[in-house]
Amino acid sequence: METKTNWLEYDAEEMVAADKDCVWHHLKPHKCFETQEQMIIVEGNGLNVTDIRGKEYLDATSGGVWSVMVGYGRDSIAEAVCDQLKKMPYFAGVFGNVPAIKFAQKLVEKLPRMDKVFFSNSGSEANEKAFKMVRQASRINPDRKGKYKIMYRDRDYHGTTIGAMSATGQAQRKHDFGPFVEGFVEFPHCACYRCPYDKTYGDCDIECARKVEDIILKEGPETIGGLIVEPITAGGGVLKPVKEYYPILQEICKKYDIWLIMDEVVCGFGRTGKFWGHEHFDVDPDIVTMAKGLASSYEALSATVVKQKVYDVFLNDPTDPDTRLNYFRDISTYGGCTAPMAAALESTRIIEDENLVENSRVIGEYLMEKLNGLTKYDCVGEIRGQGLFAGIEFVNNRETKEAITEGQMATLMGNVVGNGVIVGRTNSSFHGLNNIMNFAPCLIITKEQVDTIVGAVSNAIEKTFK
Ligand SMILES: Cc1ncc(COP(=O)(O)O)c(C=O)c1O
Repeated sequence: METKTNWLEYDAEEMVAADKDCVWHHLKPHKCFETQEQMIIVEGNGLNVTDIRGKEYLDATSGGVWSVMVGYGRDSIAEAVCDQLKKMPYFAGVFGNVPAIKFAQKLVEKLPRMDKVFFSNSGSEANEKAFKMVRQASRINPDRKGKYKIMYRDRDYHGTTIGAMSATGQAQRKHDFGPFVEGFVEFPHCACYRCPYDKTYGDCDIECARKVEDIILKEGPETIGGLIVEPITAGGGVLKPVKEYYPILQEICKKYDIWLIMDEVVCGFGRTGKFWGHEHFDVDPDIVTMAKGLASSYEALSATVVKQKVYDVFLNDPTDPDTRLNYFRDISTYGGCTAPMAAALESTRIIEDENLVENSRVIGEYLMEKLNGLTKYDCVGEIRGQGLFAGIEFVNNRETKEAITEGQMATLMGNVVGNGVIVGRTNSSFHGLNNIMNFAPCLIITKEQVDTIVGAVSNAIEKTFK
């Protein structure tokens, strides 16, 4: 194949053939690469994306995995990246650079109870850093000796690397990748619709939070150093805990000196109608991890932000002076790339100047109102969400809550995309429970665009379940 000097130019047939030949797409049964043409996206503007055949779609997923917060086609981000690359593209994070300093300042301004920012490139990596902080602290700090284990929830996702996946629930997703890293301990989720303790909210003692203490005591509190949660579970099915949940969990963590890690990879940067997902609750995490919306995915960037007390463990390493490190022994090569910080600064400026967190709250309420109209269909079991993040759980029987099948879900998804709208879904994450359609449009969405999305879903439901 001839290499073009300007690769923005392409021949559609050539690209489709080359895609079939060489590209291994994510999360798709591979047989479909042989028989079906994969959608190739070539352009985006606002919430719209155009494929290589010229067909336009309204993207209700912010780029498939909920990350293009400010929408497509933002010239100012491209320009900020271009200027920075020309000036100084890279130096490893052992030294400083101006965009990293400015963006770290911005993050601690947005997280006033946090103090230090460690940059890396993906959500998985940001979480790995948090786990390594817990582990190194358990070696060097006498008060934390032996506290190396991390607890995680059975429906949360924390990443694709083996460490992050060891901290991930979602049994089906993990199925083929064990054995996992030692020292990760699972506890049940907090979704009222399928309460793991068979209780009903209002008539329960918030067992989903309180019983975490029993698991800690069984495991040995002297061995547990961290507990990671998504403030609102995203890929696990859009699960928002009740208001009592996090204060109880926080108390338990404080009692046993366990660092509470909030994975804001999805919820951060306005997705849920507040800047951070955890701001919906009375909770004060020790470590916050973030990625995706950080630079609106115009560039790859993640961060692990910590309280001073976490940083101080490394600053004041009290081990033998001949062997002590006095630093967190970690690095990320691409954590020294400067363009992602420039993109993040500009993306965050847009979020602030265009009041997009407020738009997420206001239009999020409208989205929920419209989605609630779909409860007229028997196949809709529950609709839940916060801000511009929502999910519909589809069932074949409302009484028994029996989930629709993978086949029904696939047909339904196909029918929505056939209507020109891209939505998301739980993807082979839980055996028998991959029945949740999700919505996470860019934060610039309008009411009219919400109407188009919900109309497309309504029409697809009628077609699929007629
Ligand atoms: C809550 C959460 N944490 C972490 C990750 C991992 O992020 P990445 O894919 O950038 O490694 C994801 C990815 O979807 C996520 O949803």
